[in-house]
Amino acid sequence: MEKIIDENKQGETLILDKKVGNGKKLFIESYGCQMNFSDSEIVASILADQGYNTTQSLEDADLVLVNTCSIRDKAEQTVRKRLAKYNAVKQINPKMKVGVLGCMAERLKSKFLEEEKIVDLVVGPDAYKDLPNLLAEVEDGRDAINVILSKEETYGDIAPVRLNSNGITAFVSITRGCDNMCTFCVVPFTRGRERSRDPQSIIEEINDLWSKGFKEVTLLGQNVDSFLWYGGGLKKDFTKASDLQKATAVDFSKLLDMCAKAQPKMRYRFSTSNPQDLTLDVIRTMAKHDNICNYIHLPVQSGSNRILKEMNRLHTREEYFELIDNIKTLIPDCSISQDMITGFPTETEEDHQDTLSLMEYVKYDFGFMFAYSERPGTMAARKLEDDVPADVKKRRLNDIIQLQQIHALERTQAHIGKVEEVLVEKTSKRSDAHWSGRNSQNTVVVFPKENYKPGEFVDVKIIDCTSATLMGEAVAYSKNN
Ligand code: SAH
Ligand code: F3S
Repeated sequence: MEKIIDENKQGETLILDKKVGNGKKLFIESYGCQMNFSDSEIVASILADQGYNTTQSLEDADLVLVNTCSIRDKAEQTVRKRLAKYNAVKQINPKMKVGVLGCMAERLKSKFLEEEKIVDLVVGPDAYKDLPNLLAEVEDGRDAINVILSKEETYGDIAPVRLNSNGITAFVSITRGCDNMCTFCVVPFTRGRERSRDPQSIIEEINDLWSKGFKEVTLLGQNVDSFLWYGGGLKKDFTKASDLQKATAVDFSKLLDMCAKAQPKMRYRFSTSNPQDLTLDVIRTMAKHDNICNYIHLPVQSGSNRILKEMNRLHTREEYFELIDNIKTLIPDCSISQDMITGFPTETEEDHQDTLSLMEYVKYDFGFMFAYSERPGTMAARKLEDDVPADVKKRRLNDIIQLQQIHALERTQAHIGKVEEVLVEKTSKRSDAHWSGRNSQNTVVVFPKENYKPGEFVDVKIIDCTSATLMGEAVAYSKNN
């Protein structure tokens, strides 16, 4: 860690151990979405300035932070189990302090301190800059809490400490919060109003990543396509912006274009897109730039118009098909993935068949499928009875998982015989003699190592596949190195 040599007013030389400081060790772990992993890197940076170094060992930690997820009941149960584990470790390491961050902290607030005796600190997703003050309180022996949500905070001024990084791929947050209010979803309550980050700070972070050797950036937001920067503030207030602010506003397609041009050899991905906000401009910008990957994560949740309406998803099945058609026309080899929820309240067998037939139409490359889990406080929880029996939810979930498997295999088989550019990330889990990386479509590709190295773009001829992985042989270095 760096030492800063400074001269004070009296001309004495001070050595400020900016980052070595207190010698304390931070153990931080994250559950849930990519945004949580990215937020933990911001938290690690804020605490590095307080002198904390990160440790991989729970037993050694002075401070344990867990970044939590509330999206489904199961996600919360996982965190509760971790707290029980910390409790056991605290018996042998009594000085250890425990803090909860993220969505569960925001949802449960002070209830956390009452329910879980092990917890000393509760911090919501917009309050991480207050951590130094909160930790001072904890040091003094008091429990500390800040769960205030913000309309401005984007952490754009904080350089994340890359945790568990492979030095090749990184997440860059571009928006926070979500204004969409899907009726099943707890995120608008736990992450607050949607705000966009200053594009200049995004580009600076990307330039910095490039200078450190990173080769791929994933732009992150709960709803990236609603990115809108006109000088700060909520999107809904854009109507009040000045003419100049409107003329110079940056939407998501412009941001993508700026990123692609700022570092023409950096590869870009983004996540997540809500179909109702994904514009043709974004698809055209993807088509225009070689370095924007041909992959869109496009959660639909259900194939039934009636259920989509109940979910407050603001598009129909037909509009979704139109969007898919446009994507396939403008970017013929674009891969598309889904999130799907089975057993949303009132879902009938017919609605379920609509979901299956929508999947047949799109033939997703991959997907993330869940049984509906009622979340306290959401519109669905307030207005609708969780009336689909657990065994029916489970059977429908199995139906869509099985269909997705079939489509995934069809989609991977379509790569056989092609030569595709792969960014090498790491040694394959299955074989030390093979590299593992991903192609533009976000499909994992493994191939014999030869003399290639992680961080290099390699053209690989695809010769075989499973439903999840492509197997190939390197042809040559790609032109993009
Ligand atoms: N826009 C977000 C979506 C967050 S939630 C993003 O960036 O990923 C991720 C997925 O979890 C959703 O797309 C949905 O399929 C699922 N999900 C959300 N709430 C759920 C609930 N109450 N029960 C089951 N699955 C849920
Ligand atoms: Fe949740 Fe819908 Fe936003 S799924 S994160 S409310 S787009």
